Amino acid sequence: MPAVRCLGIMMCLLPCSLTVRNEDRDERNRRASYDFKADGDADFEESPKPTAEEICLWGQSFDKLMNCPSGRSAFRQFLRTEFSEENMLFWLACEEFRKEANKSVIEEKARIIYEDYISILSPKEVSLDSRVREVINRNMLEPTSHTFDDAQLQIYTLMQRDSYPRFMNSPVYKNLLKTVSETQSVES
Ligand SMILES: *[C@@H]1O[C@H](CO)[C@@H](O)[C@H](O)[C@H]1NC(C)=O
Repeated sequence: MPAVRCLGIMMCLLPCSLTVRNEDRDERNRRASYDFKADGDADFEESPKPTAEEICLWGQSFDKLMNCPSGRSAFRQFLRTEFSEENMLFWLACEEFRKEANKSVIEEKARIIYEDYISILSPKEVSLDSRVREVINRNMLEPTSHTFDDAQLQIYTLMQRDSYPRFMNSPVYKNLLKTVSETQSVES
């Protein structure tokens, strides 16, 4: 049963970021940077081939999917097909942003994130309610690393409620699961 394999939660995180086995796509030069970057930015690249454990974990919860670099990457590709990739891009940008400590860098990056994902003029504008927009507009007067916290959570929740169930039911995910159970049916 998949449940048995899913126990290896800790196994997920390391192999996940280390297996870079993408064999296709025109991403070769960007892949170079993939190899050297830590976690976060790696998601901006095409997905490495996920392991059976990882694929299994993705189905357990949205949190587990999002904690796994290859999961975020596969989910992001799915979002692209739904034309809502900006949600993931925004969330990832916020993850990076929250780690920033330098005040002048924070101010600069806050402006970039605002222009890219909050501004109604941006083609990548994310869908936020008016309360969160007001919070951000207030925060932007003096940005801190927490400026987008509410917005990031709102977009996370949106992806969790909206796109994640569709991803779980998508042919892409079902085929991955099928491959896993076919190649790893030793335990059952
Ligand atoms: C903050 O970043 C700016 C721009 O990159 C840099 O010039 C400055 O030295 C940094 N300040 C600190 C305290 O690291």
